[in-house]
Amino acid sequence: MTSKTQAFLTLLAGQPVIPVLKIDEIEHAVPLARALAKGGLPAIEITLRTPVALEAIRRVSAEVEEAVVGAGTILNSRQFDQAAKAGSRFIVSPGITGTVIDAAASSDVPLLPGAITPGEMMTALDAGLDFLKFFPAQQAGGAAFLKALASPFQELRFCPTGGITSQNAKDYLGLPNVLCVGGSWVAPDNLVRSGDWSQIETLAREASTLK
Ligand code: 3PG
Repeated sequence: MTSKTQAFLTLLAGQPVIPVLKIDEIEHAVPLARALAKGGLPAIEITLRTPVALEAIRRVSAEVEEAVVGAGTILNSRQFDQAAKAGSRFIVSPGITGTVIDAAASSDVPLLPGAITPGEMMTALDAGLDFLKFFPAQQAGGAAFLKALASPFQELRFCPTGGITSQNAKDYLGLPNVLCVGGSWVAPDNLVRSGDWSQIETLAREASTLK
């Protein structure tokens, strides 16, 4: 395991689920991050899929001391740099490209790049990246697919994401090459829209005890 991966895992502190968040209203960012942290999921991924995402990262990073905020859906080096500058403690990308690899190599902020094929996994290993997002997990072949990769890729560890729920999370978390899973189920759109932070805290608490 590389030292960057080790630093990243220290940041995650054994958290089994990383909430994947899409924030439409900037006012939701801070209370949402607080509710998730209170429920036991301080490390969160705010995806760059909405115009307020970078500002949301800035606010959570400045105002929610207990949160470990990361950025998701990073598609290029410009977004990598913007997200890092906004205060992201880690960066998640849905795939793996040369430009994102280069951005990560010249930054202290750890990258969790997406990989789904053996070729992409070899590219990651060549770049010294050994902790990967297996995305989209459920749609690409699920836990059985990922299990089959453990033997040829003994050094790799994964955070499967995509189609994961409280029901199927355990199928992945039980695999020796899985360290955590990512998912949006702990912060459903309807609960975020209605500001139901206590229900989100409950969902987070349930997810935080998954093994
Ligand atoms: C992601 O970007 O990681 C996924 O969109 C999250 O997938 P999910 O919504 O199926 O959990």
